[in-house]
Amino acid sequence: MQAEKRHKGLSLCVKNALCLHVFVFLIAFAFACGLMSVQAQPQPTNLIPAPAEYKVCKGIGKLSNCKIVKSEKALLRRLEGRELANWQLKSAYWMELGKKGVKIVAADEEGVFYAQQTLKMMESLDSVVSCCTILDWPRFRYRGVMLDESRHFQGKDFVKKQLEMMALLKMNRFHFHLVDNPGWRVQIDAYPRLTKLTAWRPEAYFWDWEKNEIGGLFVEDGTPEAYGGYYTKQDIADILAFADERHIEVIPEIEMPGHNYETRYAYPELACSLPGGGKDPWELCPGKESTFEFLEKVLLEVFDMFPSQYIHIGGDEARKNNWKLCPDCQARMKAEGLKSAEELQSYMIKRMERFAHEHGKRIIGWDEILQGGLAPDATVMSWHGIEAGKQAVKEGHDVIFTPTHYFYLDYHQDPAQFRPVGRLVSLEKVYSFEPMLEGISEAEAHHVLGVQGNLWTEHVQDAWHAEMMLYPRVYAIAETGWSQAEKKEWSDFERRASVLSAVARKWGYTVYPPSQQQ
Ligand code: ACM
Ligand code: ZN
Repeated sequence: MQAEKRHKGLSLCVKNALCLHVFVFLIAFAFACGLMSVQAQPQPTNLIPAPAEYKVCKGIGKLSNCKIVKSEKALLRRLEGRELANWQLKSAYWMELGKKGVKIVAADEEGVFYAQQTLKMMESLDSVVSCCTILDWPRFRYRGVMLDESRHFQGKDFVKKQLEMMALLKMNRFHFHLVDNPGWRVQIDAYPRLTKLTAWRPEAYFWDWEKNEIGGLFVEDGTPEAYGGYYTKQDIADILAFADERHIEVIPEIEMPGHNYETRYAYPELACSLPGGGKDPWELCPGKESTFEFLEKVLLEVFDMFPSQYIHIGGDEARKNNWKLCPDCQARMKAEGLKSAEELQSYMIKRMERFAHEHGKRIIGWDEILQGGLAPDATVMSWHGIEAGKQAVKEGHDVIFTPTHYFYLDYHQDPAQFRPVGRLVSLEKVYSFEPMLEGISEAEAHHVLGVQGNLWTEHVQDAWHAEMMLYPRVYAIAETGWSQAEKKEWSDFERRASVLSAVARKWGYTVYPPSQQQ
């Protein structure tokens, strides 16, 4: 009995084991079939920014074996009557990813480059790349990121790393905020004290240096423990070559008349003719001819360094109190028939615009340049909100939208973030911005050049923190700038953003965790 029972038990065990084997085999078979059918199924794309048109076909695409046709005629044939502006045509591409390889058709090198970025992203993000055809072009011509290098200085390698990510995201403008109160960051041969002295300060952390909104001290280059740095002309040339290969225009910003504490520290004669240069420590004196001589000499060197069409002249947050007391400013106002400090600022910006035009450049300024009358050809960076941008469009000016509550990347992404500042600017909030605002007519739409994220660095000391503030929010700005409005969809973007974030981390970027974005 016992033995029989044991035998029965054994055979039951064997039977069970056999069943288990069959079961495992069936599961494995079903899984393999499932996988095969998943592989045969068209896969959704993980691309950021979402392409204008994306059609999946049967089969798995082969990402190598790439044939490139650079011909406007050929691209127009693929566009089948879709009407693109000339600047869009330059960036547009058609791409077919087949079982045997890739074919790219573009009118210009820029379109070929963007097709290649699409391929690079597919290769990096998609586990299975389905055969597909893509027809793609940008919605806006300006898709930018601004980096404040004055408050905290990151340097060349950091900048190149971010340019690489921008290129992958099809962004094309890098706004280089090179000078501001706590540090001058670019070599100017005519004024060596800007880099021998005011590129260096004793305190590394900005808030340890700036006390009560009045800046601190600077120390000579070479002083032990001095914090800071600057870009030599060779550094700038290296960055520009790197950016150029990636179809990114680098736009330098030279601030005037406000945000010039460091300039006045190096050259106190640029301040108003008042005791200590006046109560406000930031402003240059627009009454003195020597101020214009200084700015023109600086700009000539900057124009030589940067081939960009635009120069950003700042124009923000000048307090203007000194000007009301300064005899030189008062004399200037009288001579030019200017009725207010705002008109004096406008005089300065218009004069600098004329100078820029003489050298083949156009100016961009923060939205305060609207005060006292806008310079005739100026492009406005609308940062206080959206109203200034709308007003500029109505006045027939080009506008780039960088509204604080959507695109200020120093603002925190969730309430628990390390060093929270400003308002909550979550990934979803960034993504929700629509640049074609109500009230802007179809005829005025071409004045909306695009969008830009601004990373101010008062609170952002190192590369780890800076990247955490940039990513993933820069993805959302890239998609808003490139993708057609009807292609934007938050939940799908959120999914794609987390795929890109995982890969970006493997590449060595610090990316804020998507789970904490809300
Ligand atoms: C700015 O944020 N002051 C342009
Ligand atoms: Zn003055």
